[in-house]
Amino acid sequence: MSSQKKIAVLASGAGTNLQAIIDAIKNSKLNNVHIAAVISDKKDAFALERAKSAGIETVFLNPKDLTKNTDYDKKLTEVINNYDVDLIVLAGYMRILTKSFVNAFKNKIINIHPALLPDFGGRGMYGKRVHEAVLKSGKTESGCTVHFVTDEVDAGPIIAQRKVPVMPHDTIAGLSERILAEEHKLLVEAIEKVLCK
Ligand code: GRF
Repeated sequence: MSSQKKIAVLASGAGTNLQAIIDAIKNSKLNNVHIAAVISDKKDAFALERAKSAGIETVFLNPKDLTKNTDYDKKLTEVINNYDVDLIVLAGYMRILTKSFVNAFKNKIINIHPALLPDFGGRGMYGKRVHEAVLKSGKTESGCTVHFVTDEVDAGPIIAQRKVPVMPHDTIAGLSERILAEEHKLLVEAIEKVLCK
């Protein structure tokens, strides 16, 4: 990558995927990428602590102050526009984005999902529910997907996927842990792929 690219990371939870990006930048696995800001809808998201520890600017946008989704995403658009980023990375961001937000950043938003889309995606398919559904289905393979975000949940063009075998007698915790380890690698690869295009 020649010129430096700026990204914003949106996260609502533990932020292990954010950490993977921070580490990849530190270890020069991801060159010329700068995290301009980490934005969260959860005040106590550990992702915000990880960002602060790495010296990255953080923004907490309280959903209680902007109860309508359209108002929330309008504010989010303003905040992100201030950072003038090349890419928005959803790394465990739990809110569904409005159509106008997605259209404002067309082809500039990517998301990581803990299954092999188009299977086990869509509204209501998040967190443990995804792995539970995979185990119930009897599939012998799951994995993770990074895709562009469109106004249809989990249905945008796929950028990269990694497969993870489902073991006999697998548990939700075991499967999710093994997939998460792959997510960390996949997300870094996908960011590089998108920003180097
Ligand atoms: C990951 O499993 C990701 O696929 C999903 O939410 C989880 C976030 O984990 N969208 P973390 O906050 O990055 O640890």
